[in-house]
Amino acid sequence: MTQQNIRNFAIIAHVDHGKSTLADRLLEITNTVPKEKMAEQFLDQNPISRRRGITIKLAPVRMRYSSNVILNTFDKLSAGSVKDLEILRVAQNDKAQNEEFILNLIDTPGHVDFSYEVSRTLAACEGAILLVDATQGIQAQTVAHHKEAVKENLTLIPVINKIDLPNAEKEVVTKELVNVFGFKKEEILYISAKTGENVQSLIEEIIKRIPAPIGQKEKPLRCLIFDAVYDEFKGVIAYIKVVDGQLKKHDNIRFFQNNITSEVTDIGYFSPFLVPSDILTTGEIGYVITGIKDIRQCRVGDTITISQKSKVKSQKYEEVEALPGYKLPKPMVFFGVYPKESRDFVLLRESLSKLTLNDTALTYTEEYSSYLGSGFRIGFLGLLHAEIVKERLKQEFGLDILLAMPQVLYKKSFDGVYPELSRGDQDKSAMLEPYMRLSVYTPKNYVGTLMTVCQARKGLLFDLSYRDNYVVLSYDMPYSMFIRGLSSELKAASNGFASIDYKLTEYREADLASLEVRVNDNPIDVLSEIIYKDEAIHVAREKALQLKNSLSRQQFRQIIQVVVDGNIQAREEIPPFRKDVLQKMSGGDRTRKDKLLEAQKKGKSRLISHAKISIPQEALLSMIEGG
Ligand code: GTP
Repeated sequence: MTQQNIRNFAIIAHVDHGKSTLADRLLEITNTVPKEKMAEQFLDQNPISRRRGITIKLAPVRMRYSSNVILNTFDKLSAGSVKDLEILRVAQNDKAQNEEFILNLIDTPGHVDFSYEVSRTLAACEGAILLVDATQGIQAQTVAHHKEAVKENLTLIPVINKIDLPNAEKEVVTKELVNVFGFKKEEILYISAKTGENVQSLIEEIIKRIPAPIGQKEKPLRCLIFDAVYDEFKGVIAYIKVVDGQLKKHDNIRFFQNNITSEVTDIGYFSPFLVPSDILTTGEIGYVITGIKDIRQCRVGDTITISQKSKVKSQKYEEVEALPGYKLPKPMVFFGVYPKESRDFVLLRESLSKLTLNDTALTYTEEYSSYLGSGFRIGFLGLLHAEIVKERLKQEFGLDILLAMPQVLYKKSFDGVYPELSRGDQDKSAMLEPYMRLSVYTPKNYVGTLMTVCQARKGLLFDLSYRDNYVVLSYDMPYSMFIRGLSSELKAASNGFASIDYKLTEYREADLASLEVRVNDNPIDVLSEIIYKDEAIHVAREKALQLKNSLSRQQFRQIIQVVVDGNIQAREEIPPFRKDVLQKMSGGDRTRKDKLLEAQKKGKSRLISHAKISIPQEALLSMIEGG
């Protein structure tokens, strides 16, 4: 297959606008997967993706398609110049009327937690389908992905999906695409990914509009790693695009970032299953297997070249520059992760070490809570990433876990270094917290209520722009607002109509305090957190009340105190039961009564000193999970 007949593209869309469904139709029409084998959302084999209905792991696939594209172009140009016509006529005579193309589709996850992977995927493509739901119109992630695609210089094909639905608003959404992104009306395609209507013409347009890859075969090898997975039997499998040169089996290759060399034991492409082949050439997308066992040595965004040590004669070593855009994704949200059953701790440790074989973003250290026992402090890319790991632990290892004590990655500033702050650190002078640029995309009529929410969440308005009937609000806001329930607040304030997107921007100074909850003087470590000083009294009162409502009465008095930076800011009391120890006595003398009452008093003080044992796990759970 010549390089001219390769098309590499992605589908970008807001959640649920039909990306995976469209991918299914493409696989069907190109006979990549026979119809009878077609399970819905074929590229999304991840069981969690399938259940949640969102794409988590990207999956590339190579499709073959025969097109009579020359004839089509010929028809279109018939009104063009005589010279054009002549060139086309010659081309048409020279080639078979049906030309074969390779279409490489890379399905991408849509959520911001995985935006780095998406950016590397886009870097591996020449074009993208911008898919918009005809009943929803443009939403926050449509805008965000569009921006990324433009940044990567991709050729975009605007496509309006779900035109089979009775409430499809083709005209309205067309106007949005024209006004918001500047597309021409004639560029826009209308399809139903569900029924397959017009999907074949979309394929023809992909071939016509998206350019072939531009790399050079003669240049030294450079491959972009856009994903990597760990396989128990094969080791690390790198998903790559050959940007320049050619890659063959047994080549000695070098990974730029870690400067590791290794021999290629297997290469091939995706059908979407792995299909071995002898060579991958410029512009092609495929996989590489080397002896590497640790996925950290094969980073997404890294460049593969030929190693200096290569014995393959045809591959002369030459110094090359790494491809741009490499980054190390950093965990941004930290949770205490504890097994619900403390005997599962060892299993949790084993499971985590297995998960990290495939998930380089996960980092963890052991942690101990006097209430939940042994557990871990785990760093995640964001809240969705945390949820996914929780589900994977349940499904793949049968583990029920608790996510507790959420915290973003704070830093401390002194001498220009920013070591991470560990929990309970007392010196909090000049603490820095991560900030994000939040974009809220909303119909006009919710602007007021949404602005109120953002301001209450320490948001500073950066920009407000009108796009048709929509408004894009941009705020600079502490990233920690997400773990304080920002998403659901914005959804509620807009009756579910607003969609959000964000980007982490910088660290800014923050006035923080540490909050501790005590019951009868016993600190409850799982309820400790870092809060804003200016919200201390309010948060302290709320916590105290919340705990009061989740604890049940005991034989003894329970005193709840919320302490902020060493000062008691809120106090609640739960009075004891008064068990009538004298009830069993009929008559009896005074000394016996006094004895019983004395025994009761002693019992109570014993209970108080062991009070922490009697705080039921359900109460803690309702605080952790509900808070
Ligand atoms: P993420 O992976 O979460 O980003 O979602 P997605 O964009 O892949 O959306 P998906 O393909 O899962 O489609 C979302 C829902 O819309 C599913 O219930 C689909 O069946 C439905 N859907 C997709 N395309 C069409 C269409 O053309 N018409 C109709 N009626 N429904 C569609």
